[in-house]
Parts: sequence; structure tokens; C-alpha cells
Amino acid sequence: MNLLGSDDLTSEGIKKIFDLADRLKSGKEDLALKDGFTIALLFEEPSTRTLLSLEVAAAQLRGTAIYLDMEHTQTARGETLGDTAKVVSGYCDMAAARMKSHKSLLEFAENSSIPVINALTDLEHPTQALADMYTIKQVKPNLKKLKIAFLGDIATNTANSLMITAAKLGSEIVLIGPKECKPNPMYLNKAKEFSKVQVTDSIENGLDEADIIYTDTYVSMGKEKESEKRRKLFASYQVNSKLLEYADANAMVMHCLPAHRGEEITAEVLDGQRSIVWEQARNKLLLNKAIMLYLSEK
Ligand code: CP
Ligand code: NVA
Repeated sequence: MNLLGSDDLTSEGIKKIFDLADRLKSGKEDLALKDGFTIALLFEEPSTRTLLSLEVAAAQLRGTAIYLDMEHTQTARGETLGDTAKVVSGYCDMAAARMKSHKSLLEFAENSSIPVINALTDLEHPTQALADMYTIKQVKPNLKKLKIAFLGDIATNTANSLMITAAKLGSEIVLIGPKECKPNPMYLNKAKEFSKVQVTDSIENGLDEADIIYTDTYVSMGKEKESEKRRKLFASYQVNSKLLEYADANAMVMHCLPAHRGEEITAEVLDGQRSIVWEQARNKLLLNKAIMLYLSEK
């Protein structure tokens, strides 16, 4: 079993991962991976949190993580991802890959005989969405009575994964961004199968009674050439103190990080009382441990 996209998990699967995270957090049991467990971490793009939390997760569960910077593997000289996957599968028990293109991840997974985790592609960031929803559950346990607002680049990988995972847990989603930025219809339609999903360019309407305010960078990895255009396009959707006034008085602020202070979010809000961003980042370690245990059991 793989975790290539958020739709690979049923709501039961998500709950099992959350249950494992709760058990890990309680510290009452000695949960560990099998003796000699190894996970290969194949990264084509930069990472601070996902890479480090996967490495620490494996170490804390008594496994070993091996980082492969893809620029220093033979794929950089033309070996196919399929051939690489066959070899990695012969050495390791699991792989996590951060690929520029989701198609590359699928090619790698199709040729793997071990579980593969998506550590971010241009289309999805499923491990992030699990850490996000677990974080939300800690502060607002009734996920079925929750409205999550995603602001800014509503067509990005984090928006795609979050809307699927959140919808499967019964939360309402509102995607708030400029008319020029259309959400990915495949993810939007899938999310709508499970919950109410609204798309709007109006901050005021979208944030009405929102419990969670989530944002991400205006310029995702791979979109650098569009930086200037994107900064202009999304500028009015910045999460700042004034914008928070439109949401519920107890609304919490989230960001997958890395943040660009003064662009999609102000430093004041990021570091402010309503921010649960640092807890959200910390939970990536816990959830990556739960995901590894879950996929090992399958
Ligand atoms: N949130 C996240 O995936 O961060 P990194 O790019 O640092 O892994
Ligand atoms: N949407 C961002 C997420 C970074 C974790 C990107 O793809 O760069």
C-alpha cells in the first residue's frame, strides 16, 4: 500500500493513522518498526521539515532513513525512475519521495514493490494534510462542525491534499482566492463527494464563521518564473490582523511553512496568539511516525 495522494486513504484509514499518532503521543506503548527497517528518502527538491521529520521519525521508531539527493543519483545522468525504484525496492522496506512532477512519483511507485510515500509533488502533499488535520483536531476536536478556509493559491498541492483529507473527515472547506486562480477540478469534485466545499474570491463571505484560516506561499516550488505575477495576483489575500476580523473570534491560523513573512502572512499573525503554525510543524514528526507504522502494517 502506498500514500501517493490523499485519496489513497479512506476516512477509516485516516482515523487509524490518527489513532497511531495518539498512541505514540501517549508514550504508553513501545511502538517500533521491524528490526533492520530502512526507508529511502528520495528528494528532487529542497525540504526542511518533511525531510528532517521523516529522518527523525524513522530513528525514533528504531529504523534507519537514508537520504538520496536526486541530483547526486544516477537519475541525474538518465537512469529511469522505474529502474531506480526496482533497485531501491531490493534494498529498503519503504521509500518516501519528493518529486517535481506527480507523474514521476507515479512512475517510481509503479515500479516499486515497497510502500511509497509522497513527500510532496506539484499536485499533492498528503503527509502535510494528515499533520494539519491532526493538529486541528487537537484544538477543535469536532471536525464535523468545522469550517476550514484556505486562502491564496487555492490550486496548490497543499490545497489539493487538505481539501480531500478534511472533506473525508467531514469538515467544511472554503477556498478563497482570486478569480484567475481556479482550484484543480479533479480535487474539488472529489472533495465535494464527502463534504461541503465552496469556492469564492470574497474574503468577507468566505471567512464568515471560519474556524481555521490556512495559507501557503504564493510561489510554490517550480513556479519561480511566475513570481512577480503571482505576488500581484494574490497580494490582497494576505493573512493579516485585519483579515482575521472577518473570521470567527476563535479562529486559528495555519501555514504549512516555509512562510514568506510580509507576503502571504504577516509576521504579527504568524507569531501571534491565533497561530498554531509551530504545533502544526511539530506534528509532522508524529504523523510521519504514524504513517510509517500504518504502511508497515498493511
Ligand atoms: N511543510 C513542508 O513540507 O516543509 P518543507 O518543504 O520544509 O518540507
Ligand atoms: N505549496 C508549497 C508547499 C511547500 C511545503 C510548494 O509546493 O512549494
